[in-house]
Order: sequence, then structure tokens, then C-alpha cells
Amino acid sequence: MKTQITELFNIEHPIIQGGMHYVGFAELAAAVSNAGGLGFITGLTQQTPKNLAEEIARCHDMTDRPFGVNLTFLPAFTDPPYAEYIDAIIEGNIKIVETAGRSPETWMPKMKGAGIKVIHKCTSVRHALKAQKIGCDAVSVDGFECGGHPGEDDIPNMVLLPRAAQELSVPFVASGGIATGSQLVAALALGADGINMGTRFIATEEAPVHDNVKDALVNASELDTRLIMRGIRNTERVLANSAAQRILNKEKTLGDALKIEDIFDEVAGVYAKVMIDGDLEVGAWSCGMVTGLIDDIPSVEVLISGIMRDAEAIIEERLAGLVKS
Ligand SMILES: Cc1cc2nc3c(=O)[nH]c(=O)nc-3n(C[C@H](O)[C@H](O)[C@H](O)COP(=O)(O)O)c2cc1C
Repeated sequence: MKTQITELFNIEHPIIQGGMHYVGFAELAAAVSNAGGLGFITGLTQQTPKNLAEEIARCHDMTDRPFGVNLTFLPAFTDPPYAEYIDAIIEGNIKIVETAGRSPETWMPKMKGAGIKVIHKCTSVRHALKAQKIGCDAVSVDGFECGGHPGEDDIPNMVLLPRAAQELSVPFVASGGIATGSQLVAALALGADGINMGTRFIATEEAPVHDNVKDALVNASELDTRLIMRGIRNTERVLANSAAQRILNKEKTLGDALKIEDIFDEVAGVYAKVMIDGDLEVGAWSCGMVTGLIDDIPSVEVLISGIMRDAEAIIEERLAGLVKS
């Protein structure tokens, strides 16, 4: 399948693996790229720019295909050394960066000067337009369904994607809630040029996370996510667990007085313990509603080729058949 996204990033299939904290290591990024999609290493999971340089080198050893690095500009307790992370990206000969969180405007000249293509992930049309204006090559439009940070507007993809199509001139991918070929077709019909998946890629053979995490995604339904941190405008969609429930209880009790410090134990530094050690209850961790569509743990190659096969069959057989006289 050829779309503006496959052409822009020189990939076979219009399927992107979004950056994921303590999931987006070289093993997963390389597996996605080797299967014809576009894998991303999560920059800030690497504790230092030097570690990121080593992770990029490891990924180059695992694939000859294009892969990228995600750089997340979230409200952090202390700002990471972004300039040095970007140096590591440039020196690692990375040509694609997925930015997310705050606007990447400050860093655009440095990245564009190094010939990097930037895809910015955002949750609203106005932020997508801003990304386009500052020179991003593409946008990843993250609907309310998504795992991680859906923003504060709560617009699901059925409305957000056609709104993005009305306004944007750069190509965009649909992100949030996606796991199947039928959803790829729907995204294309709504104006996107591809899809970005997070949660679905965690439940794959190559995702370098504890089996407890993968099993939890297979077992959870679409009803099993919760929105935390709404009151402090840092909403995160997470898997329902005891830590998420503790946070929600504190949010209810403290109301507007809630501060990030009140939930620090449940949200800070928990990802390594969840993803690597498999301690699912230690804190709140991102998970999308799409967990309700996850019933197996395939290899990345089987997942991606299955999505493409199903999408092409739906277009050629079901949809084409509907309009034939
Ligand atoms: C466990 C997990 C960790 C994530 N970490 C990040 C991150 O560090 N940076 C980022 O830009 N997005 C992050 N995301 C969001 C994903 O890149 C992607 O946009 C989102 O998962 C798409 O929604 P889906 O999970 O419904 O596919 C994370 C998502 C999950 C599930």
C-alpha cells in the first residue's frame, strides 16, 4: 500500500509504532521496521543522551530499515537535557523524530538543519495546525481513545480525524484505539495516510516487557481503562489497577487542592517496575481502550502483515463490492 506516509518515511506499510516509555527499546523498534512499519525508540527512557546513542547503535545493528526516535516534551519534574538528546539523535544518523507533548518549536531549526523529518503527535486540530505551521512534516493525531495522554478536549477519532482532514495540508496518521485492518481502512477513509499504534504493540512477542504486562492486555476489556490526573490538566489513560484507584480516591477527596506531589508515589518512576519487573500494581501505567481488541500475543511481523492483509481484503472485496452495480 502506498500513501503519503509510506512515501515520506520510505516504508512499506503505513503503520507506525509510537514512542512508549520503557517499551520502545531497540528490540521493538527494529522488529516494527523489519516488518515494514516504522519503529520508534523512546528517547527519554534512556537515562542519558549517551545511553540513547548506544540504544540507537543497537537498533542500527538490528535493522537496515528506517526507524526513528521519540522525544517527549512533557511537563517533567526536572527538564531533561533536550539539546544533548537531539545531538545523540543527529550523531546516530536518525532521520525521523516523533515529538510529543509540548510544541517542538524551539528544536525545529536544529532538527530540520540536520535533515530530520519530524512527525508531531498531538490531540487537537489546533495543535496539529501549529505543528504544521512550525514546519513539521507530518502529524500523528491522537484521539480520546488513546493510551497515554489524550489531552483535555476529549474528542474521539471518529470526529477528530475528519476535522484534521478538513484543516491540515501535511499528511497525518490516525492514533489511538487502533489494532486491526478494519480500523486502518477506517482511518484512511477518514482522511489519514496511515496509523500509529501504541498499546497493541506491547502485546507482541518482541516487545521487551514482562509477560505479566502482555497477559494483562490480553485479559483486559475496553472497559478497563481509567483517566487520571484530570484535575491537574495532565490527563493520562491508564489500565485500571489498585494504584489508579488510589489516585482516583485522592482526586475525589482533595478535589481542586490536589497537587502532583499527592500522587507522586503512584506515578513517578513506576514504569521500569511495571514493564521490566512485571509488578503491575506498583503504579499507574498507560494503556488504551484498544486493550479490548487485544486477544493474542503475535510476533510483530504476524501482526503487521495480518493488518495489511485484512485492510486490503476489506478495500478490494467488501468496499469495492458495495459500489459495484
Ligand atoms: C505504556 C505506554 C507508554 C507510552 N509512553 C509514551 C511516551 O513516552 N511518549 C509518547 O509520546 N507517547 C507515549 N505513549 C503513547 C503512544 O505513543 C501512542 O500515541 C498511544 O499509545 C496510541 O494509543 P493506543 O495505545 O490506543 O494505540 C505511551 C503509550 C503507552 C500505552
